Amino acid sequence: MCGIVGYIGKKLAFPILLSGLKRLEYRGYDSFGFFVLDSNPPATPNKPFLFKKVGKISEAEGELSNLKVDGGIGIAHTRWATTGAVTEVNAHPHFDCREDIFLVHNGIIENYREIKEKLEKEGHKFRSQCDSEVLCHLIEKYFNGNLEEAVRKTLKEVRGAYGIAVISKKDPQKIVLAKLSSPLLLGIGEDEFLVASDPAAVITHTRQVINLDDNEIAVIKPDNFFILKEKPLVQIEWTLEEAEKKGYPHFMLKEIMEEPEAIENAIRGRLMIEEGSVKLGGLDSISEKLREINRLILVACGTASFAARVGEYMLEEYAEIPAEVDIGSEFRYRKPVVDKNTAGIFVSQSGETADTLAALKEMKQKGILTLGITNVVGSAQARETDAGVYTRSGPEIAVASTKAFLGQLATLAMLTVYLGRQREMALVMGKRIVSELAKLPELAKDVLKSAPEIEKLAKKYKDYKNFWFIGRKYNAPIASEGALKLKEISYLHAEGVAGGELKHGSLALIDENFPTVAICPSDSVYEKMVSNIQEIKARGGPVIAVATEGNEDIKKIVDDVIYIPKTLEMLTPMLSVIPLHLFSYYVAALLGHDVDRPKNLAKSVTVE
Ligand code: M6R
Repeated sequence: MCGIVGYIGKKLAFPILLSGLKRLEYRGYDSFGFFVLDSNPPATPNKPFLFKKVGKISEAEGELSNLKVDGGIGIAHTRWATTGAVTEVNAHPHFDCREDIFLVHNGIIENYREIKEKLEKEGHKFRSQCDSEVLCHLIEKYFNGNLEEAVRKTLKEVRGAYGIAVISKKDPQKIVLAKLSSPLLLGIGEDEFLVASDPAAVITHTRQVINLDDNEIAVIKPDNFFILKEKPLVQIEWTLEEAEKKGYPHFMLKEIMEEPEAIENAIRGRLMIEEGSVKLGGLDSISEKLREINRLILVACGTASFAARVGEYMLEEYAEIPAEVDIGSEFRYRKPVVDKNTAGIFVSQSGETADTLAALKEMKQKGILTLGITNVVGSAQARETDAGVYTRSGPEIAVASTKAFLGQLATLAMLTVYLGRQREMALVMGKRIVSELAKLPELAKDVLKSAPEIEKLAKKYKDYKNFWFIGRKYNAPIASEGALKLKEISYLHAEGVAGGELKHGSLALIDENFPTVAICPSDSVYEKMVSNIQEIKARGGPVIAVATEGNEDIKKIVDDVIYIPKTLEMLTPMLSVIPLHLFSYYVAALLGHDVDRPKNLAKSVTVE
């Protein structure tokens, strides 16, 4: 949520901030802004350069590329509004009364109202409605010649989440950084340092980064940096090419096309077919503790929570461990009862989702074993869980999560085998699952071949305003995922519901204007799905089925069919979800939406 980039070094800061910000725009794109110290014309000589604008950077590209901004120290921000409307004055950087302190902030200051009231009484003049501005005035209040000291005192007074980068004209030649529950990293280049909320912004300059931990303050200067304690260097594993569109019109389409690769990357080197088992190095340190676990709570948000729900079915059916799923924002407030044999599994692409991290903190406080399934190496979730497995899906830039979901499902399938083989799962069953998993990347590639056909269906259905998505058992969460994806990027109303639930109320909405996407592979609940489809057809609702290749009968009862290859029932979600991702993509693209940056949303939700 919101993107931060900062630069200090021998080069001109502005072009570096601009290109970094463009790479971060997926984190928030309501408005953006820059502050560069020691700029020359078009700003007045020796006067800092401050620029803020409402809208997307791409829309202001012409204007920005004509700006000549000198100066080697700067910060920039792209915003996803939380407090205060989307206006120029609410855009970052924010500054204090005297225009000495400039700050960008990612996160939320929960007690900003009371701080603001107090500061106003002390004579501070606020310009914006944004919570972040209180930080500037507090720093101003505590500033006594040393910026980091003023930042330290300020942060003692605030509650909430923050990743901040601050510059002061009165203590120049440095940027002060601090973080709590919002990602922030420090990029170490040659004679230059960068700060960013995401590796994507620094990758063209350096692959050496330090992830700041909560409550840490760092100071970067043109020739050195210091943090209040020693930190290990981490290597960024992504390549620049992976973070670019490779000729696709949108990141989302590129990322869907990478779904087979996401499965392949997740399973590479981890399947042990002869042993009917898997090797998950990240779990080695807790392998013995895992044997004692008799209850699993999976916590995630959005798309990751649907992966967790598929995981719940897998873990109960094949590892025979009672499992339940909680969404991050609910877990900590429902006062869950847990004991020492419960383990928490946290599923998150970014590893920075505030709701999921809050649940993780809650579980850690209860002394429970915690495992992470994360895509981003070195993310807060990866650092704070006791152990975990990386999904290795590569950078996911589109706000709508697609390939990362496949990585999560493949990882949960492997975790099921891992835990199952520690318990009662027979060798033959383990072998069956891992050998089917090994075939999945190729099968997923086959599904992608239907893209042109799915695009035609999108043309046919794009003007409907409402959609149901239905599925049962392993595909019930996939119905929810299909619906979320469609509404998220096409702004059409869509709901995902378990096939058996329709008749308990939802069926009332069905008519010829309310199409249903029915996920009905040939599996143990196929007959039940057929009954549900017939209930819809009897009420005139159009139906698109996602069915198993070779099932010709289904054509007789539905309007359109998309075929997927046969695989094990527990693995079908990894194939059935692909057409749904493509369908949403094509509908949104045909409707002319900004597919990668849907309105009102942002990629990583780092506020609760
Ligand atoms: O980074 P995470 O996997 O923790 O993100 C969780 C959700 O915010 C995310 O999946 C969201 O629902 C996506 N925009 C869905 O496409």
